[in-house]
Amino acid sequence: MDFSATLRSKLPRVGTTIFTKMSALAKAHGAINLSQGFPDFDPDPKLLEAVQEGLQGGHNQYAPMAGNLHLRQLLASEFQSMHGAAFDPEREITITAGATQAISTAIHTIVREEDEVIIFTPAYDCYAPIVELVGAKPVYVQLTYPDYSVPWDLVVKLINHRTRMLIINTPHNPSGTTLKPEDFERLQRIITGSNIIVLSDEVYRHIVFGGAPLSVANYPELAKQSIIVGSFGKTFHVTGWKVGYALAPAEMMEEFRKVHQYQVFSVNSAAQFGLAKHMQTTQLHQLPAFFEAKRNFFLEQLAGSRFKVLPSSGGYFQLLDYSAISSENDIDFAERLTKEHGVASIPMSVFYHADPDHKVLRFCFAKKESTLAAAAKKLLAV
Ligand SMILES: Cc1ncc(COP(=O)(O)O)c(C=O)c1O
Repeated sequence: MDFSATLRSKLPRVGTTIFTKMSALAKAHGAINLSQGFPDFDPDPKLLEAVQEGLQGGHNQYAPMAGNLHLRQLLASEFQSMHGAAFDPEREITITAGATQAISTAIHTIVREEDEVIIFTPAYDCYAPIVELVGAKPVYVQLTYPDYSVPWDLVVKLINHRTRMLIINTPHNPSGTTLKPEDFERLQRIITGSNIIVLSDEVYRHIVFGGAPLSVANYPELAKQSIIVGSFGKTFHVTGWKVGYALAPAEMMEEFRKVHQYQVFSVNSAAQFGLAKHMQTTQLHQLPAFFEAKRNFFLEQLAGSRFKVLPSSGGYFQLLDYSAISSENDIDFAERLTKEHGVASIPMSVFYHADPDHKVLRFCFAKKESTLAAAAKKLLAV
């Protein structure tokens, strides 16, 4: 049967993602892959043992719809100790199939067809397509270049009676910057008294260099109008497990769960059991230093290169400006870097709605030192 006449794409502008393309190109040319955001090292063996224990110990049927209660309780204590925020594990926390599902469920819960959603670009790639899937309108606001700060005055001008959601992401993918107290305070002032819900993507929330991590949870008035999403994949080096979470005030979480139960119902039981067991004994305060050492190592190895380093303060990614090397657009340059020099990265333009032509590439440093050293050696020769 020919579906071409009847099958109307809901996402006509979405093709194969650049992440798939760059990883395939890296493979085809034997290049070092610093494009996609995942570690090339193993998680803690104790976490793997804990999941094994879950598998052997009968955790093989549906988990509770809202997630393993023990895991939710551990998250609640973590938010209490890190951000001084009280979330009720019974009513305000849900375990999801990765942060991606949490983002999708949050948008489906809150946003309707007539609504607008403010998205800061460059942005992680899943926000806008999900907003489009519910029929709503993404309203793009470019972060100020080159410091990737938020132009709040512009945000204020764009807010109108249709604005239903505003999506923030800190530490930020792709720029590696973090929101400052002044940003949270300004955001709190902007949305208090409005119908706007903040979707706060905090998947890299533990990975902040030089200073305590900040969340919307640090700001009680802001937290009342926010849904926070996180990812165990990023925290425990297990991105392939796709286990994440959402936190929100009880009334909002009740609605979130109605959508969640028909999107996935519940999430992998053994993985949740293992994560809960592991979290009881694991100190996460070493995580920022662990990743900061990787970032610093990569940059030390790059010393003397023609790439210009942009400042970063958290997350998995380092931006490098290649304007001293080439005037090519970033997609062409990233492809040539992969094919001719053997290092795959992501061109920044793919994270924008309108290409600002900045001559910047994103490199993932969540890799073994040997990988980073080999990549840096190749980049030095460019
Ligand atoms: C900013 C951001 N949000 C969400 C996600 C998705 O997380 P998960 O793999 O848990 O779905 C990622 C993954 O790269 C990300 O970088």
